Amino acid sequence: MRAVQLVSETQGLQLVDWPMPDPKEGFNIIQVSHAALNHRDLWISKGRYAGIKYPVILGSDVCAFDENKRRVIVNPGFNWGDDPRVQSKSFHILGMPEHGSFAEYVSVPVQHIYSAPAHLTDAQVSALPLAGITAYRTLVIKCKPQAGENLLITGIGGGVALMVLQFALALKLNVYVSSSDHSKIEQAIQLGAKGGVNYLDSKWDVEVLDQSGGFDMIVDSAGGESFSKFPKICKPAARIAMYGGTNGVISNLSPQQLFWKQISIYGSTMGSPSEFAEMLSFIIQFKIIPIVDSIYELADFNSAFNRMNSKQQFGKIVLNVSK
Ligand SMILES: NC(=O)c1ccc[n+]([C@@H]2O[C@H](COP(=O)([O-])OP(=O)(O)OC[C@H]3O[C@@H](n4cnc5c(N)ncnc54)[C@H](OP(=O)(O)O)[C@@H]3O)[C@@H](O)[C@H]2O)c1
Repeated sequence: MRAVQLVSETQGLQLVDWPMPDPKEGFNIIQVSHAALNHRDLWISKGRYAGIKYPVILGSDVCAFDENKRRVIVNPGFNWGDDPRVQSKSFHILGMPEHGSFAEYVSVPVQHIYSAPAHLTDAQVSALPLAGITAYRTLVIKCKPQAGENLLITGIGGGVALMVLQFALALKLNVYVSSSDHSKIEQAIQLGAKGGVNYLDSKWDVEVLDQSGGFDMIVDSAGGESFSKFPKICKPAARIAMYGGTNGVISNLSPQQLFWKQISIYGSTMGSPSEFAEMLSFIIQFKIIPIVDSIYELADFNSAFNRMNSKQQFGKIVLNVSK
């Protein structure tokens, strides 16, 4: 079968001819239609991820067909464990260490396979799993939002960030966004955000405070220097939830602002199997359609990775594996 494989540290990603997965007890081999990229795939391809093994087929997100021709979606977070608060030590994600979805066939645990939401195209289904579960747990489970609250989502061009926006609009939150790109702020406003700022402007915090009057929640994937400005733009009793650290170490965070305003900071990673099922029900109930930025043929995977690397996307970048 054709597959996009991270061959070795020096040889990088290549389109290879690779044997079909071996049948395994408790696993189903499903035929991939579309597979979406996550920033995780980019980090791994750059060697910036813990425990990289070679060779490995990347890809955590998939829309596929099972042996009965049922269209399916897969929860990519394996071995969550028994504690709903945190994943177990053996938790891992489809697409390293196990071979992932950038291939014509992928083998996945049976209990991780769900019927795909009928209102979505194959590309939209593939755009949903990892971003969807991460966004759902970060916003809905951790922040416990109430209708009418103010939410800031940073880096709105990101796949997870956009899912947070769509969930937040369904929950009737007042959403503000930040981005490095003015046109992405405009696109977010067209989707229903109330305003937005460019996080590269030194006064972005003052501007977004002016626009919103302050935030009950901030959802962030960047960390870094900007994070230290969050407490200042938070209302009392605000919740800050973060699922990524694209911009590195957080510094200069004022303890006084945190404790005086009774601010909570949550770290969040993907979600449990029951949260994945809840997320799918939420998507179906509100007829949410994940935003697909672009679709590339499998053989054109380099263009897809380059688009993510240069932050050009607004939404998910998808590979059409059947082509
Ligand atoms: N913990 C988890 O379970 C989990 C799950 C998924 C992702 N993640 C992590 O979350 C991050 C985003 O993942 P993704 O798949 O959504 O990535 P993505 O689709 O590639 O989006 C990345 C976005 O990050 C934004 N960004 C970059 N630098 C920023 C900064 N300094 N301040 C604010 N935003 C910034 C950019 O937004 P603009 O284009 O709007 O500027 C960019 O489009 C990655 O670090 C990823 O590893 C973690």
